[in-house]
Amino acid sequence: MKKTNAVITAVGGYVPEYILNNQELSQMVDTSDEWIMTRVGIKERHIQKGEGLGTSDMGVEAVKEILRKTGTKPEEIDLIICATVTPDHPFPATANIIADKADIRNAHGFDLNGACSGFLYALDAASKYIETGAKKKVIVVGADKMSSIVDYTDRTTCVLFGDAAAAVLLEPSEEELGLQDCILRSDGFGRKYLNMKGGGSVHPSSHETLDNKLHYIFQDGKHVFKHAVSNMADVSVEIMERNNLTEDDIAWLVPHQANLRIIDATANRMNLNPEKVMINIERYGNTTAATIPLCLWEWEKQLKKGDNIILAAFGAGFTWGSIYLKWAYDGK
Ligand code: UT7
Repeated sequence: MKKTNAVITAVGGYVPEYILNNQELSQMVDTSDEWIMTRVGIKERHIQKGEGLGTSDMGVEAVKEILRKTGTKPEEIDLIICATVTPDHPFPATANIIADKADIRNAHGFDLNGACSGFLYALDAASKYIETGAKKKVIVVGADKMSSIVDYTDRTTCVLFGDAAAAVLLEPSEEELGLQDCILRSDGFGRKYLNMKGGGSVHPSSHETLDNKLHYIFQDGKHVFKHAVSNMADVSVEIMERNNLTEDDIAWLVPHQANLRIIDATANRMNLNPEKVMINIERYGNTTAATIPLCLWEWEKQLKKGDNIILAAFGAGFTWGSIYLKWAYDGK
């Protein structure tokens, strides 16, 4: 019997309209376009504005685009997994809210928190449902409204993040395409360097958590940078080696977009020509779980059936990983 593979058959994406550029940020905090561009590589990020809007409102746009493009009826979807660190609410899951807003009534759904590696974790989980035959159509959403947890008086974090959502549809195929290999890691050791302490069971929301700014992102950037550079490159090289891939075999690297210097270091370790690296950090910043599918969405037209693609991420936890997949259709 032939093996069933999980292949991506469509991509959707959404970025909010409002653009917060470096010039506007430099009027809010003591920073400059020059510092942000040389240290991180970001020019602008999109911010979701509007009372009562949240992560699900971006995620549902990406999901609807997939349904529209593929002519899939909402009731055909079996499962939605939403990777996010900024759910609409602690519960119910944002995946459930997206399902409701997209009129998806025959699926189950859940959220998954793997921070900036969340999309890779969710893609891996989704692929198992397809490969075992348990599900036929699974949507994986990576969505984050980072502006909801950013302290816009803290120059060390507020310049980094943006809001966005993107999603992929996974389906079964007997062709040798789709997810081929996966290395996922987490250690917990890094949790002290990147976190948001308030609002959970250890520090439930209180006047004190508000006064101490515990509901904002905390990051010790230097430490995170050091581990991101080595770990993201290590797993990317490891997945190449164990699949006997050379740099010539790889069509694209799709790296998490946290810092242009981390992306360059990973591409260098893989010996990849910079033209093979998807980079859009300049326009969107770090959108956490959305960065990787957002790249796939933007580059979809250039992708060809059979392209070898390496996805790579690193984030809070620490979490990190790499997925090797063969693209399943020609971009239109
Ligand atoms: O996606 C999840 C994983 N996250 C990451 O991978 C992020 C990893 N870390 C990084 O990308 C970098 O560490 C940052 C971009 C966050 C910071 O860059 P850096 O080169 O590591 O800067 P630094 O933290 O060492 O700070 C250097 C200087 C400091 O000033 P002093 O102490 O040297 O006087 C900072 O106060 O730059 C200062 N600084 C800024 N200056 C202007 C920090 N933020 C800013 C800013 N504008 N926005």
